[in-house]
Amino acid sequence: MRYSFIAELAAPGREVPVRACDPESNPVWLFASIGEYPVYDDVVYEAMIKDERRMNRYVEAVRRYAPGRTVLDIGTGKDAVWALAAARAGARHVWAVEVIPKSAQIARETIEEAGFADRITVIEGLSTEIELPEPVDVCVSEIIGTLGGSEGAGSVLRDARKRLVKPGGVFIPHRSVTTAVALDLGSANGGRPLGFPPFVFRYVEEVFASVGRPFDLRVVLEGLQDSPAVRDRSYLSDPVEVEPLEFNGDLDPEGIDAAELMFTREGNFSGLALAMRLWVAEGDEPIDSLVQPSSWTPVYAPLSVEGLPVRPGDRFEFDFTTTLSDDGVHPDYALTGELHRAGGPVVPLSWSSTHHGDGFRATPFYRSLFPGPGGP
Ligand SMILES: C[S@@+](CC[C@H](N)C(=O)[O-])C[C@H]1O[C@@H](n2cnc3c(N)ncnc32)[C@H](O)[C@@H]1O
Repeated sequence: MRYSFIAELAAPGREVPVRACDPESNPVWLFASIGEYPVYDDVVYEAMIKDERRMNRYVEAVRRYAPGRTVLDIGTGKDAVWALAAARAGARHVWAVEVIPKSAQIARETIEEAGFADRITVIEGLSTEIELPEPVDVCVSEIIGTLGGSEGAGSVLRDARKRLVKPGGVFIPHRSVTTAVALDLGSANGGRPLGFPPFVFRYVEEVFASVGRPFDLRVVLEGLQDSPAVRDRSYLSDPVEVEPLEFNGDLDPEGIDAAELMFTREGNFSGLALAMRLWVAEGDEPIDSLVQPSSWTPVYAPLSVEGLPVRPGDRFEFDFTTTLSDDGVHPDYALTGELHRAGGPVVPLSWSSTHHGDGFRATPFYRSLFPGPGGP
């Protein structure tokens, strides 16, 4: 067992112990779910640009809808990729909005260098706080989270629909859902507990700093998407869909979805992988972050540290609740369910993950990840 320390808001003597792991010897390891915080850096933007499936789907959709139209790009990022794709495809004018000042500044320079400064206007700020001279024909954004709605796509795009986009205007992406699959994580890592590789610590620190204190941050599982062998050992059920977000239809960022996972394999049920499917344009095949390597990674919802033995035919029934946090944009998630096993008593299981709630080391999983001075 290895522990290291991460600084708590750079205050000497207030370091937080954290479980470290070596990705070389652990096929599955943890990263922080960072897209819902303003902690984007060059490495993160580059990972998105290198995601060919994501890039191709978006550029195809932009080429389909942008020619001759006015376009709003929400969250253009430092590379202004969709704004530039729209201008190159012949958009009449593009408004590119970005909340991170440094990213907005670099986007402005990139657009000038590409010779599109007359057709793309960069606006620094939150899309929910800006005004446009006139509503646009098309809104493009990629603020889809590790869970479909976790970066605030539901409330941000509902606001854009009300104030910034013409009635009947087109939204890219078209829709997203969150997916859930039952996991046996012990078998993937030979029983070793999960941890963060040291190069992830600075992202954990930045998420803590953006919230103002340590808390039980959402974590994602690296290593599942890339290896069919690891997935086959880890996934115990077929996936189900929750949190549907219809960007071109009735868009409700909050709700309760009832779902049931049927176990298809024998194993030790430790929790769920929660991921997303994204239909960039109507009629597209979805991008599926449970099974395709991508810049989105499945969130881990731990339900049992020791794991619960399950067999084919057993089932996990649950309610998945999405509620907007008090910032009005980013959802808090909660899941309550019952494990039904042949011949055994019903086992109640639950998980919750707030955007910036104040619980720290509140469950056995987080006490193992961030052990106190005396150990977990
Ligand atoms: C996942 S990145 C996407 C960047 C780029 N569009 C791309 O797809 O490569 C999301 C970006 O949106 C920005 N963002 C998120 N919500 C926003 C909002 N409501 N208004 C403006 N910018 C936002 C973030 O700061 C971040 O730069």
